[in-house]
Amino acid sequence: MKPFKIRDIKIDPPLILSPMAGVTDYTFRRLIKRRGGVGLVVSEFISVEGLTRNNPKSKRQMRFDEIERPFAVQIFGGQSERMAMGAEMAEEVGADILDVNCGCPAPKVVKNGGGSGLLREPERLEKILKEIKRAITIPLTLKLRTGYTESTINVVDIAKMAEQCGVEHIQVHGRTRDQGYKGLANWDLIREVKQSVSVPVSGNGDITSIEYGMRKWAESGTDGILIGRGAMQNPWIFRQFADVLAGREPYQPDLNEKKAVLLEFFEMCLEEMPELVALGKMKQLAGQFTKGLVGGAQFRQTLYHSHSVDEILENITTYFNTLTAGGGYGDGVVEADVPQIESCDAFTGGVGSAAA
Ligand SMILES: Cc1cc2nc3c(=O)[nH]c(=O)nc-3n(C[C@H](O)[C@H](O)[C@H](O)COP(=O)(O)O)c2cc1C
Repeated sequence: MKPFKIRDIKIDPPLILSPMAGVTDYTFRRLIKRRGGVGLVVSEFISVEGLTRNNPKSKRQMRFDEIERPFAVQIFGGQSERMAMGAEMAEEVGADILDVNCGCPAPKVVKNGGGSGLLREPERLEKILKEIKRAITIPLTLKLRTGYTESTINVVDIAKMAEQCGVEHIQVHGRTRDQGYKGLANWDLIREVKQSVSVPVSGNGDITSIEYGMRKWAESGTDGILIGRGAMQNPWIFRQFADVLAGREPYQPDLNEKKAVLLEFFEMCLEEMPELVALGKMKQLAGQFTKGLVGGAQFRQTLYHSHSVDEILENITTYFNTLTAGGGYGDGVVEADVPQIESCDAFTGGVGSAAA
């Protein structure tokens, strides 16, 4: 569990913020980066159909800040020429790494040959990887699911083929396309991939606690791990892992810091986007963020019904004041009502038209 390199780029610590459409944008990535402990951040998946047709949203999605480096741009699509063009554009804007999405299960993406659809068409994927390699000089990486269905698991073969094509880091989310987000990620398959290729491999799936993460990491023997949903619930999760790797006690933010980070996020959103969008983002993060806090369910109800910045700020202040007074943090209560943010389906509305 030491830092590893993707060509000459040091991933230190070997902890990666997993790409999440609609979540890991410029704002969220910087919020996480400021908390520390993250060795690589990745953009949301970006449609090459959008990019190469000058869709302003797709272009905006490539924006990043110097503090984010090393920074990877993830692209998706099913046409090799467009993928190569999109990859070139990512290199031009200064991305350190180009990542190809081979895992998104959304029907709109799969239908157009991209995302996890590529798991069914290894030849198409091979062509895409080879053309991208010809088009860029920065390292090419791949993010995979384990297969399309339970009966067609082919992640090891795909990983070997990708290595032959010059892919320099393989990231495996241990679920099939058909599984969506159900069940648990299969870390045994992730271990098999690690044992089958010589490029670095990172594992991904269901890491929301240090104990579980360290266990799966050790068992699979991977070079790094990716954390997605866990970072929304706990933006300090990377710092906590980094602490443990360095032999320190994991950092524990207090309630004031939690509140401050929520407000920091809100402020960043308001700087970046229209108020209505910022409100939505805030509700999304606060919903995940208050998981397990006393009275979190009620707080989320008030939050979902807040319609202005002032209302949200007031509700946050009231909620955290109540918590501070009651000392209700960290009591281990895990609430069942938290809406699970699952899959990128909900976020493909914006790319669907571009991908059509
Ligand atoms: C809302 C959401 C959006 C996602 N978008 C992407 C994406 O754009 N690209 C990608 O490779 N994976 C995407 N994923 C998958 C995650 O990167 C990750 O592989 C998956 O959530 C499992 O990891 P976790 O259990 O740590 O969340 C998304 C997942 C979620 C929940």
